[in-house]
Amino acid sequence: DTSGIDFSAISIPFILKGIITTLKFVSVSIVLGFFLGSLLALMKIAKFAPLRWFADAYTSIFRGTPLILQLLFFYFATPQLTGYEISPFLAGVLTFGLNSAAYISEIIRAGINAVDKGQREASLALGVPYSKMMRQIILPQALKNILPALMNEFITLTKESAIIAVIGVMDIMRRSQIVGADTYRYFEPLIVAGLIYYVMVMALTVLGRMVERRMSRGD
Ligand code: ARG
Repeated sequence: DTSGIDFSAISIPFILKGIITTLKFVSVSIVLGFFLGSLLALMKIAKFAPLRWFADAYTSIFRGTPLILQLLFFYFATPQLTGYEISPFLAGVLTFGLNSAAYISEIIRAGINAVDKGQREASLALGVPYSKMMRQIILPQALKNILPALMNEFITLTKESAIIAVIGVMDIMRRSQIVGADTYRYFEPLIVAGLIYYVMVMALTVLGRMVERRMSRGD
């Protein structure tokens, strides 16, 4: 009988194991996204116009198409072109890393732009070289605007990561679906999965607030 609610009828530890997978997935993705996003942000503020065009087109494409389409493209369509199979986890990390880079590059670009232009003017007037100005004057101040937004991106990726269940990564979402298929019970596993995501998001939110408070201490 599968009517009524019975949490003892499902294996909660089986779903909990997905936390490791989800956390690993999101962490690798955000690191990749941050690295590529930083490169793209530098391209966006470059003097050489083709670099800017490339970075802008990149951002436009990755933000202008559904993430799930990009995921299915990397997992199913790339092997057709290259002849190489790719694991669901790798396809997912590549997709999320490349996708997030588009968003992160905007975060970084906006963070740099938000630094008062007097800082740049003063550096130029004092003859501070470009790279020194960036590293020691502009970027440290930009970090204040960037870090809280990066935490938001981490939260977004954590929730969006649930779509990798579609290509078979054994994350929280996929595990809860498997439990549903095995037991014909969907209420319990979905509630458990929802609670796990919610707790993760709340933990990141609290962490984000702490970072934000720390960043504004000097103001
Ligand atoms: N649901 C959105 C989409 O399908 C999510 C995009 C990913 N967002 C992000 N900040 N990386 O396009």
